[in-house]
Amino acid sequence: MKHLLSVADLTAESATELLDEAERFEQALLGREVKKLPTLRGRTIMTVFFENSTRTRVSFEVAGKWMSADVINVSASSSSVSKGESLRDTAMTLRAAGADALIVRHPASGAAHQIAQWTADQGSTPGSGPAVINAGDGTHEHPTQALLDALTVRQRLGDIAGRRVAIVGDILHSRVARSNAILLATLGAEVVLIAPPTLLPVGVSGWPVRVSHDIDAELPGLDAVLMLRVQAERMNGGFFPSAREYSITYGLSQRRLDLLPEHAVVLHPGPMLRGMEIASSVADSPKTAVLQQVTNGVHVRMAVLFRLLVGSDGGAS
Ligand code: CP
Repeated sequence: MKHLLSVADLTAESATELLDEAERFEQALLGREVKKLPTLRGRTIMTVFFENSTRTRVSFEVAGKWMSADVINVSASSSSVSKGESLRDTAMTLRAAGADALIVRHPASGAAHQIAQWTADQGSTPGSGPAVINAGDGTHEHPTQALLDALTVRQRLGDIAGRRVAIVGDILHSRVARSNAILLATLGAEVVLIAPPTLLPVGVSGWPVRVSHDIDAELPGLDAVLMLRVQAERMNGGFFPSAREYSITYGLSQRRLDLLPEHAVVLHPGPMLRGMEIASSVADSPKTAVLQQVTNGVHVRMAVLFRLLVGSDGGAS
């Protein structure tokens, strides 16, 4: 595997290997006062974020540092992008500066794919460019988010295959929804999208999912429910239903939490809009795995960096 651009490039076997590798890294670090493995010593990782982030950027930085890589963070606002430099020139500059991996977040769907092509096609050794990891491209994909969500479901439920998982909310603007739907289906889960018709993408009939508009009817039959943030920044100033209608019709209230089976787990990729898509009491409930997702995000990103930069089993050993 040279890049991680889409979960569609993963098989059940290769995705499971990444989840297993993430758990090996978790075990390798358990109880250590000094969290430092020599795995990526001498490697240079650059995070290149053209959109804001807390969880993804920080956890990639922690992952790289815990594996002894040199980690450099580039943000659009403090780089020459703010002076008008193009995406291609920025990517080629970072390659020329010695990046072994570029971790890219960009508002344009396909940006990470494009950077992987540009940086692979140049230089003295064709194809020898940096590994590119898609850390969220527009409304398209967020592969490491789906991997960390899958790991969290597996840890909470013991398995993924045969489980019924709902993804609830603003599917239309969500790269998390697409990556999760594809990956969970690849791993054998039954995936249900629960959303108002106005927040479903054209072409959803081609996704490996069932669609519902009735959250109350679905909740008692679910093993896991993934709540999505309503992405107002992608809606040009307004959306239908209104925030209040949305919260009443699709928000995960305490009453709705009580409709879930006892064993079920609630996930949210963050950032959460408390009181909008999820009640504060639900966000803080023991059924909700939000902080476990964040911790798993570090281990999953360690596994991905290891697989791309070293390429074989045994990174945590
Ligand atoms: N889940 C997620 O991508 O969060 P950030 O935007 O904070 O990285």
